[in-house]
Amino acid sequence: MSESGRIALVDEPAPTPGTGQVLVRVRASSLNARDLFMLDGRYPVPPGRVPLSDAAGVVDAVGPGVTRFEVGDRVLNSFHATWFGGPQRKPGPAYHTDIDGWLAEYVVIDQQGLVSMPEHLDFTEGATLPCAAVTAWSAVEGAGPGDAVLVQGSGGVSLFALQLARAAGARVIATTSSEKKAARLLELGASDVINYVSTPDWGAEVRKLTDGQGADVIVEVGGAGTIAQSIAAVAYRGVISLVGHVAYDTTGMNLLDFTYSGATLRAIGGGSRSDLEDMNRVITAHKLRPVIDRVFPFEQAPAAASYMESGAHFGKVVISH
Ligand SMILES: NC(=O)c1ccc[n+]([C@@H]2O[C@H](COP(=O)([O-])OP(=O)(O)OC[C@H]3O[C@@H](n4cnc5c(N)ncnc54)[C@H](OP(=O)(O)O)[C@@H]3O)[C@@H](O)[C@H]2O)c1
Repeated sequence: MSESGRIALVDEPAPTPGTGQVLVRVRASSLNARDLFMLDGRYPVPPGRVPLSDAAGVVDAVGPGVTRFEVGDRVLNSFHATWFGGPQRKPGPAYHTDIDGWLAEYVVIDQQGLVSMPEHLDFTEGATLPCAAVTAWSAVEGAGPGDAVLVQGSGGVSLFALQLARAAGARVIATTSSEKKAARLLELGASDVINYVSTPDWGAEVRKLTDGQGADVIVEVGGAGTIAQSIAAVAYRGVISLVGHVAYDTTGMNLLDFTYSGATLRAIGGGSRSDLEDMNRVITAHKLRPVIDRVFPFEQAPAAASYMESGAHFGKVVISH
């Protein structure tokens, strides 16, 4: 995406909340890989749609019939505006593609689409939770003491997966392309870090590090380009949580190897509002703090997207409103 980007600043009157709706004064929003795909045209988006799926802010006004929140409450949005809990039967409207997102000063939204923000977090931290953190929460589900979790790379989802898996008592092995980022991953609690560039056969390394057992849960953010190594790394009857596709340009998986692995491949699609609330309770209990790389002012949103696209970030790229 060019520095000028496809983001245009537009002045509009502040909206008024209707029945059951809340007016949120947005204080911070955060970027995810999906936003870059939409901004550079890889995902089609209708013209004029407000970008970004993740934000935190303050309730500025409430419409008639609102019971979940009061003026002054600190809130963040659920990534899925209409998936509140239980199994998701069909995809609902998504921010930025189907409905306006959160790169705005004020947003009106149904009260059901919001949750309270963990008290120990500030707005920049709260704004990182709806997409990446809940996705990580879903991806490491089931991991606990005695389990080994493998996280790929040091992007937003993977760092939350590392923190949440550690909080659940699991051991975490991480991969990265950078020695500098490796040191940060160890500081965050990874027991071991493998450089996936200098050790392309990192699946065997994971097996060595786990006495031949392999990783019980793998947070697969690479997709086709990394799945073969994940199959080599996964424990017998382990789980590969398919989250992303940042390494999409290679050969993909060998289904015979996958069959022999006995593993389960589960596709992750963020999480529900109830997942977000469950995760927030754990974040609060463990006083976890999201890893933020850099905060850009609202007016520099296009520069924030370009920065994230450069891949230099370690953790979340945030916009302060
Ligand atoms: N399914 C869902 O619900 C869901 C939700 C959120 C995100 N996603 C997807 O998940 C992926 C990650 O999202 P994100 O927001 O965390 O992105 P991000 O913050 O941009 O992270 C990208 C990171 O991926 C790592 N990476 C790149 N190539 C790699 C490879 N070959 N092997 C291992 N790691 C590699 C890099 O880590 P190093 O710099 O350390 O090498 C890079 O920093 C994206 O594809 C996104 O679309 C899916």
